[in-house]
Amino acid sequence: MTVSAQRKRGGPGFQVRPVKARDLDAIIALDAAVTGIAKPDYWHGVFDRYGARGRPGRFFLVAAAEGGIDGFVIGEVRDWEFGSPPCGWVFGINVRPEARLAGVGTALLAAINEGFRRAGVAKVRTLLARENGLVLSFFRSQGMMAAPFIPLELDLDAPAAVDR
Ligand SMILES: CC(C)(COP(=O)(O)OP(=O)(O)OC[C@H]1O[C@@H](n2cnc3c(N)ncnc32)[C@H](O)[C@@H]1OP(=O)(O)O)[C@@H](O)C(=O)NCCC(=O)NCCS
Repeated sequence: MTVSAQRKRGGPGFQVRPVKARDLDAIIALDAAVTGIAKPDYWHGVFDRYGARGRPGRFFLVAAAEGGIDGFVIGEVRDWEFGSPPCGWVFGINVRPEARLAGVGTALLAAINEGFRRAGVAKVRTLLARENGLVLSFFRSQGMMAAPFIPLELDLDAPAAVDR
């Protein structure tokens, strides 16, 4: 899958393509810069599960620019989770801070959505932290709306859970 895109506001172009092993160092650095935590083992595992060829319904795409990797998106088709018919899930998207607001995130999401369409699903979902207004603004700008699900969680160390 290859989608070429021109930046919305000047600068050189970039190409959205499947991740390659040689991109991993840049992805690990990008994630570490944004989250403050370097997780090389995690990213090598994600590459094995989502980046290797021949994994239908799994996508790990990068926006490759002349200077390196500007961003990435990861997702997969999940079948009948939570009783829902198969749909695409985007569970990671990140654009290098210096490359933001130039259409990279939009191009990454468009490319993974195209992959989901080709995989036969008609719905895309994601989950984000309630306070993450930036990511919410981005997904809303792409037409994503609140879904008819409620996320729940349980703190397993909380007394109520331990006593149960
Ligand atoms: C969210 C993110 C992917 C957007 O990437 P991007 O390349 O800057 O997005 P685009 O340039 O394609 O922007 C598309 C639209 O999103 C919205 N948007 C993007 N950044 C925004 C911001 N800082 N404030 C408000 N709206 C914003 C705008 O509507 C924008 O359209 P416009 O430029 O015409 O106004 C990027 O900011 C990012 O990586 N943030 C951190 C993500 C993160 O926390 N990841 C970890 C959890 S998965």
